[in-house]
Amino acid sequence: MTDKKATLSVGDKSIELPIYSGNAGPDVIDVRALAQHDVFTYDPGFLSTAACESKITYIDGDKGVLLHRGYPIEQLAELSDYLEVCYLLLNGELPSKEQNKQFHDTVKNHTMLHDQMRNFFNGFRRDAHPMAIMCGVVGALSAFYHDQMDVTDARQREITGHRLIAKMPTIAAWCHKYSIGQPFMYPRNDLSYAENFLYMMFGTPCEEYEPNPVLAKAMDRIFILHADHEQNASTSTVRLAGSTGANPYACIASGIAALWGPAHGGANEAVLEMLAEIGDEANIETFIAKAKDKDDPFRLMGFGHRVYKNFDPRAKVMRETCYEVLAELGLENDPLLRIATRLEQIALEDEYFIERKLYPNVDFYSGIILKAIGIPTSMFTVIFAMSRTIGWFSHWNEMVSGDYRIGRPRQLYTGATTRDYPQN
Ligand code: SDX
Repeated sequence: MTDKKATLSVGDKSIELPIYSGNAGPDVIDVRALAQHDVFTYDPGFLSTAACESKITYIDGDKGVLLHRGYPIEQLAELSDYLEVCYLLLNGELPSKEQNKQFHDTVKNHTMLHDQMRNFFNGFRRDAHPMAIMCGVVGALSAFYHDQMDVTDARQREITGHRLIAKMPTIAAWCHKYSIGQPFMYPRNDLSYAENFLYMMFGTPCEEYEPNPVLAKAMDRIFILHADHEQNASTSTVRLAGSTGANPYACIASGIAALWGPAHGGANEAVLEMLAEIGDEANIETFIAKAKDKDDPFRLMGFGHRVYKNFDPRAKVMRETCYEVLAELGLENDPLLRIATRLEQIALEDEYFIERKLYPNVDFYSGIILKAIGIPTSMFTVIFAMSRTIGWFSHWNEMVSGDYRIGRPRQLYTGATTRDYPQN
């Protein structure tokens, strides 16, 4: 923090407001004192609002930089694995070899669900969207661990974090199995985190299933690329829910609900639907025109970002992974990839997108990879939620382990002023 000040003139008042500097990124003006002067800031969509202080993730949208605890996402995607990134996001430092092994082992020993939880799945129709099932089942976890949800107890918070990281792949895979009418596959402790997920997704009791190592590596990289992303809509939802003292499982369930929207985590599913709707490279110009047409609600899904006004660094890694996976599967000429590649080229040369600094984001290529691996489109956001759970939990933990107050925004009221109920 520094002793810099901003001076705000409101009417005949001159209000001094402290300015704080972080280690990177823009300074912030502490406007909390404005309420004493009977005036609020107004920032729908929070374009200019820092809602908290955090040490977890830093994004430089102009430079296309994403750091997790200071480490560039490109390096983590290439050199680390998802569970090590989970440890880093949670604890602030990379683990030693011993700490890393212990963390991997701890997670492995929490992957099973209480057997009663199977009953929650049976309450859903088989054609329920897997995100609806995941929302319900994750929220229900609080019913099984109510004696270990004291948010003021650091050890209970740590155990809850391990449980969530460990159980989300099992819940995600069971959402898929339930929707296709196949039996649930139990986690295997001899497999890595990503291999285990593929096993529970595609294995059956009828025959051996050995995960393809190239696909497992691609899945692990997809988990890393989706792990955390600063104060995005779903993470801010988790923080707001957590500020009321709600239990961590309920907070994570609120993050899953917020992520579902097509403007946020639902975009990866929407990208595939969009590419299928375009159908052929010959139709791309028509859809680019629709995306630019103010009177047309259509937007180029997987393009644009509130913070990135340059390439999303995750999209670059995702594109490389996409080519690796399609080559491994002999799908280099995948029609959807051809359309996506051509769409990206055209959009990046179009003045409308250049002027608005609209680039491909993390969702643009991820869906093509997941589809190539054989994962249904409706499961894409479930995988995003599973990967982002560590980000949500790390932000929740950072908040509740420090000083915090209940989040309670104010408003600009433009409704009816006081009026009497008709007496006649
Ligand atoms: C994620 O916040 C995060 O960090 C999110 C995320 C994470 O990891 O948590 O990165 C994950 O959510 C990625 C984003 C996935 N969503 C999509 O791909 C959906 C398509 N994108 C858009 O809906 C949009 O770009 C947003 C929602 C991502 C950002 O919206 P903003 O910041 O509110 O920007 P905006 O809507 O004000 O757009 C600015 C201008 C507008 O035009 P003008 O009014 O200035 O003329 O750009 C246009 C918009 O119409 N625009 C687009 C567009 N995105 C913005 N036009 C066409 N196609 C698009 N995709």
